[in-house]
Amino acid sequence: MLVNIILNGKKLSREIAPDMTLYDFVRDNGCYSVKCGCETSNCGLCTVFLNNKPVLSCSVLAARADGCRVDTLEYTCFIKRKSSSK
Ligand code: FES
Repeated sequence: MLVNIILNGKKLSREIAPDMTLYDFVRDNGCYSVKCGCETSNCGLCTVFLNNKPVLSCSVLAARADGCRVDTLEYTCFIKRKSSSK
């Protein structure tokens, strides 16, 4: 299935498997700062922001992020640092 996701400010259109997790999607698209510690929704290492709300990417299907904005913690910190230096 085709999904359109804005990942860290970059528009992506990708064919994905219906059972692909958001965690696998962000990692497949180069966001290696997102880690998997448990795969059981306990550790929070896989947290990303889905339309500005924190979600555990290991427990969310990538298909659910279709048409949404996904930001990693690293990108969010980068944007905050960039805006505070102006
Ligand atoms: S990998 Fe631990 S909560 Fe997602």
